[in-house]
Amino acid sequence: MRSNRRGMALLAALISVLACAPADEPPPAGQAESANGYTAGAPGIGDPDFPADGNGGYDVAHYGLVVDYAPTTKRLEGVTTIQAAATQNLSSFNLDLSGLDVRGITVDDAPATFTRKGDELTVTPPEPVDKNAGFTVKVTYSGVPKPAKDSSNLGTYGFISTADGAFVTSEPNGSKTWFPNNDHPADKATFDFAITVPAGVTAVANGELTGQPVTAGGKTTYRWSERHPMASYLATATLGKFDLRQGKTPGGIPNFAATDPKFKTSLDKLYTVSGEVTDYWGTVFGPYPFSSTGGVVDDYSAGYALENQTKPIYGGFEPDESIIAHELAHQWFGDSLTISRWKDLWLNEGFATYAEWLWSEHKGKQTAEAIFNDYHKRPATDPMWSYPPGRAKPDDLFNQSVYTRGGMTLHALRKAVGDQTFFQLLKAWTAGHRYGHVTTESFIDLAEQMSGKDLGPLFDAWLYQPRRPA
Ligand code: TRP
Ligand code: ZN
Repeated sequence: MRSNRRGMALLAALISVLACAPADEPPPAGQAESANGYTAGAPGIGDPDFPADGNGGYDVAHYGLVVDYAPTTKRLEGVTTIQAAATQNLSSFNLDLSGLDVRGITVDDAPATFTRKGDELTVTPPEPVDKNAGFTVKVTYSGVPKPAKDSSNLGTYGFISTADGAFVTSEPNGSKTWFPNNDHPADKATFDFAITVPAGVTAVANGELTGQPVTAGGKTTYRWSERHPMASYLATATLGKFDLRQGKTPGGIPNFAATDPKFKTSLDKLYTVSGEVTDYWGTVFGPYPFSSTGGVVDDYSAGYALENQTKPIYGGFEPDESIIAHELAHQWFGDSLTISRWKDLWLNEGFATYAEWLWSEHKGKQTAEAIFNDYHKRPATDPMWSYPPGRAKPDDLFNQSVYTRGGMTLHALRKAVGDQTFFQLLKAWTAGHRYGHVTTESFIDLAEQMSGKDLGPLFDAWLYQPRRPA
């Protein structure tokens, strides 16, 4: 489900041109172009900072995940059904999958051949796929998922086993640790989940439960459905013993809160604050984009949280209002409006950080202005000033500058255009790109258009210069 990706498509086309052998030479092995003009999909989606992430040649519309997980053996048995459309005449294509054993793959119900190299799973269907044709891939796999340990300054992420289940936080590219997919946010899709766990264990995924859990033979199957497009890194199947509270926010949005027994005393606060924040952000950022809200507190001591779509997760601590405000702001900034390249990450983290300051202001605590001023006072040698947040670095994606200086950028903008234009801009931004993809350029364009001001120098100083803006 890709949109507004002309730039990416051009880049992908350029890469594939460069990757193709000149017409008078035989194509390199593994890149075979059959005489009929069908070619292999690219092994990356075209994000220059993460060249192996995602894949080219197709666009996923829907994932159907069937997962059976045994916490005692940590084994996962899975079947992933992918509905996609070819974006070129396709002789073979890649999926991203890290570890795990592939038992078999079909394309449109016909057995396909496949090879693996690192995290690239290359699938060759018996018949090539025509450009624009829809096709269905079914991958049967199993094994003990191993989380990713990465250079992006994150520690461990992906599918992380816990004593009673699993803690699943996959940003930026850890969804391949538990299911085969196009693991890059440039390709969003809807999701269905059927998750089977030992009776007594709860499975919490994105979206809404589509029926009562079904227990048979000592196992329970939970079915969840996320009907709005979602980036793979926001998919979750958080498993374990949970206390639940379900209902609606005061504004009427279905609200689902789950806490590990160790955090049982946090359940009511998680539920109440998540509801209040969701409703309030609806008045500031525009209508809530999804069909339910809520949150999960698990006892895995990550010390961090992730904005999993409709189900932010908090790892091993009782979340305070500020972090709940942050993760729920991401439902608009990151989840509904999604970046097509990781270098634009400030559009997620800068906005979610600024939301924390807006929440503080809303609650009559420190104003955003006061918080901004405190940070601005930091000495010129503070590392934040040498890291330009508008260009997140692949080896240090989640640098504090992307959060704090990203948030400061929005405050500098607010001061430059005035409150009325600034808050109209936030709503126009979320409305204009709902469920779609965004870039920093498109945000700057909209800000200039709505304010009638040349904001080039402001954004350049705040986003792109390795020094403290005046
Ligand atoms: N997006 C998260 C936040 O700031 C941070 C984060 C990035 C993260 N990657 C992660 C959290 C992986 C958990 C796992 O809200
Ligand atoms: Zn965040």
